Amino acid sequence: MISFSFQIPTLIHFGAGKLNELASIPLPGKKAIIVTGGTSIKKLGYLDRVRKILAERGVEQVVFDGVVQNPTKTNVIGIVTVIRQQKCDFVIGLGGGSSIDAAKAAAMMAVNPGDLWDYVQVGQGGKQAFPERGLPLVAIPTTAGTGTEGNPTSVITNEATGEKVGLTCNFPVVSLVDPELMLNIPPQYTAWQGFDALFHCIEAFIAKRAVPISDPLALEGIRHIFANLPEAVNNGGNLEARANMAWGSTLGGMVICMSSCTTAHNIEHSLSGIKPALAHGAGLILFSSAFHRHGGERIPERYAVIADALGVSAPGQTVVEKKDAFLAAFEKLKQDAGVADLRLSNYGFTEADFDEIIHGSHVIAGGPFNRDVYEITDEDLRDMLRASL
Ligand SMILES: [Fe+2]
Repeated sequence: MISFSFQIPTLIHFGAGKLNELASIPLPGKKAIIVTGGTSIKKLGYLDRVRKILAERGVEQVVFDGVVQNPTKTNVIGIVTVIRQQKCDFVIGLGGGSSIDAAKAAAMMAVNPGDLWDYVQVGQGGKQAFPERGLPLVAIPTTAGTGTEGNPTSVITNEATGEKVGLTCNFPVVSLVDPELMLNIPPQYTAWQGFDALFHCIEAFIAKRAVPISDPLALEGIRHIFANLPEAVNNGGNLEARANMAWGSTLGGMVICMSSCTTAHNIEHSLSGIKPALAHGAGLILFSSAFHRHGGERIPERYAVIADALGVSAPGQTVVEKKDAFLAAFEKLKQDAGVADLRLSNYGFTEADFDEIIHGSHVIAGGPFNRDVYEITDEDLRDMLRASL
C-alpha cells in the first residue's frame, strides 16, 4: 500500500534564459551576499550580469568569490564573517555545487551560534540541531551535476578532521536553473558532473528509502542523462543537450532528498576527503563499474527496471539479462563520455589506502552502511576498490 511523505518547497524557474527572472521575482531580502568560486564565473560575465540585475532593482550586494572545489569549513567561516560585517540579509549561491553548498551552510551559520561542526550529525560532529532558521538562499547553478538547487544538503570538508560530510540546511527559496549558463563547461567537467547527476538518480532509485514519488523522477533523470551526456560532452554548445542535462541534474538533486544516496556517495566522499583535488563526479566514476556490478548481482530486478526505462532491454529477456543490458549500456556511456579509463590509481590511490577509504566511508555513513537494500560488507568494498585500481 502506498504511504510516504515528501516536500520540495523551492520555487524552481527552469529553462534557457531564466537567469533574467532575477529582474522580476520577489527577492527574500534587501542586501545580498553573492557567493561564488571566482574565475570562470567572472570571465564568462555571469557575476557581472547578476550584479547588474540586482543593482537595477536597488538591491545592495557584496561578493565572496573565494569558494574552492570541495568547499571547506574555512570557506564557510569566511562567508559568515562577511555576512555579519556587512549585515547581509540573504545569500545568493552562484556557480557549481561548491559555491551553492558553501552558500547554504553559510546562510545557516550566519544566524546560528557556535561552530559549523556542532551541527554535523556524523563522525566528529556535535549532532546538534540548528536553533535558528537561517538566512534565505537563492541558488543559481552554472553546472549540471550536484542538483543542490533542488535539496537542502550542503557538502562541506573539514580540513582539520579530514571529514567531508553532508549537512542538512534549508532548501533554497528560489532556484534559477538556466542551461545557457552551462554552455561553456569544458568536456571533462561536463562528463564528471553528468555522472554525479546520474549517480544521484540511480542511487535514489536503488536506495532503501526509494518512495513512489522518487522512482519515476529518478528514471526520468536517468533517461535524460543517458540520452544527452555524450552530446553535452562532445558538443557543449548544444543548448538542448545542456537543458536536458540540467533537468537530469535538478531531478537528481530532488530525488536524493525524497529518497537518499547510497553507499556509493559515502565511498566517494571518503576518496575526495583524502584527496581534495579529486572532483566529486570523477571520484564516483572511479569505482562506478564495480559498484553497479556488485549491486546488479544483489538487486537485478531494480537494474532491470532501469534497463527497461532506457530501452536497452529486449522483450522476453530475464531479469538478469536486463540487468546485464543496463551494465553494458553504462559502460558504453562511460566510453561515449570519455571517462571509461578513470581508475583509482590515476589519482595516486593504492591498496595501502583501502583501510583509510573504508574507515572514512563508515565515518561519513555515521556507522554501518544502511542506505542500501542489500548489505555491503567491508570485504565487498575492498573487492570493489581492488577492481577499480
Ligand atoms: Fe553527488
